[in-house]
Amino acid sequence: MALSVSLPAFRISDNTDIKYTETTMEDATFPFLSSDIARYQVSPLMGWTNKPIQEEDKEVQIPKAPQQENGPSIIKPTISQFSGVHTDETLARVIASYVDTLPHLKDHFLGYPINQDFYYEALLKLMCFRLNNVGDPFIGSTYMLNSNQFELCVLDWFAELWEIEENEYWGYVTNGGTEGNLYAILVGRELYPDGILYTSKESHYSLFKVARIARVKCVVVGTRPSGEIDYDELKASLLAHKDKPAIINLNLGTTMKGGIDDLDVVLQVLENCGFTEDRFYIHCDAALFGVMLPFINKAPKISFKKPIGSVTVSGHKFLGCPIPCCVLMTRLNYVDVLSQEVEYLTSRDTTISGSRGGHTSIFLWYALNKRGFNGLQQDVSECVEKAIYLHNRLRDHGIGVMLNKFSNIVVFERPLDNTFARRWILADKGNLSHVVVLQHVTMEMLDLFVTEFVENRSIWYQDNNGGKKPPCIAEDIGAKNCACSFHKKLIS
Ligand SMILES: Cc1ncc(COP(=O)(O)O)c(C=O)c1O
Repeated sequence: MALSVSLPAFRISDNTDIKYTETTMEDATFPFLSSDIARYQVSPLMGWTNKPIQEEDKEVQIPKAPQQENGPSIIKPTISQFSGVHTDETLARVIASYVDTLPHLKDHFLGYPINQDFYYEALLKLMCFRLNNVGDPFIGSTYMLNSNQFELCVLDWFAELWEIEENEYWGYVTNGGTEGNLYAILVGRELYPDGILYTSKESHYSLFKVARIARVKCVVVGTRPSGEIDYDELKASLLAHKDKPAIINLNLGTTMKGGIDDLDVVLQVLENCGFTEDRFYIHCDAALFGVMLPFINKAPKISFKKPIGSVTVSGHKFLGCPIPCCVLMTRLNYVDVLSQEVEYLTSRDTTISGSRGGHTSIFLWYALNKRGFNGLQQDVSECVEKAIYLHNRLRDHGIGVMLNKFSNIVVFERPLDNTFARRWILADKGNLSHVVVLQHVTMEMLDLFVTEFVENRSIWYQDNNGGKKPPCIAEDIGAKNCACSFHKKLIS
């Protein structure tokens, strides 16, 4: 019997009006670990690290999840034929003990753009199947345990969102944002083998890695305090390499500040510099904002009606897919530059990775269908409203802070104390830190965060504590957003 998969309903309507006013993660130790594992540290996001625990780390008080009495040790699988097999009960106890540690982390998860609040219990049965979308989703493969029909529904939904006809696009669900960026820049390089990649210094680190992998010369362009690319500097760089085609990565939401590069301005700059459409390729890295901007009134539009070559959006960020993935979309007429036939699969090898998780496409399909247009619009609106609330509260407490228009990323001075940063799972960079307000972030979490930040801050900088002062972040986010002693005086 043929399976019929419904397309997530999509409808562009008037958007809600939203008012706007912008690791070095130290690791938590897990006390239930067996002694040999306990020599290593667990970082909530990075997994195992092989950095031995140092004496000074012991002083750090990290709030721990409630302990089970006689909690189990993590059991290392061994290769010896004499090793015992552990019972399901023992293994379940280890897992339960680990799972117990997670809600606490979720309740303090503020610094990374991953929505922790979407539930997929209805899909649990899928975990009994090894779904693999190897090959081109539009052709399928002889590996029949795939979810290609779901994948195509998801791609169609994004095609409509980003304004490209069904018969004009090609894409797939990748294993993450980095793979999406790699694919996109490789297309640019194949189209323009002597092209130069231009991307701003606020770009995600994957872009610089991709440039190295793809062996594309990369020109790093400066940014404005908002995090968006500096158009004058871009112009100067383009003019300096006028003889070479341009491969441009645009950030539609930089990782740290949520700065949005203006496509129309960049197109104008290209034209002014004499780059015609056959001499540039534009990729839009919209990892977080790709599924947010379309739901915000007057926000910049992501549209293939303009001369862009590709767009990527992560599935595990705003949509909360529990396994990392990303939707990569490009123009159908570009697909041949990276593809070849594979007899073994009776498919075309068009994707970067061979095996691709089949579950992720179903998770995405489910997330889109379950929320629908209105649900997504409401989610976006709530996140942005809460970000504005956090911004205003921090500002009212005299803390340097910025919130870009159309953004849910609140950027502020880096907390002095790493213990505090770790407690709230913040991602710091230079003098800055940020909170990414997503669906799991409640007002209670924000209130507690602000209260603790303000209390701790008064201790960090108490009585001029050895000359320590809040950092000046005027260069990072603009003088008007800085609350250092110098700029505070200027503003008041
Ligand atoms: C703007 C941007 N692009 C790309 C990525 C890479 O995504 P991934 O970690 O899924 O590879 C991120 C991740 O945070 C990002 O913020």
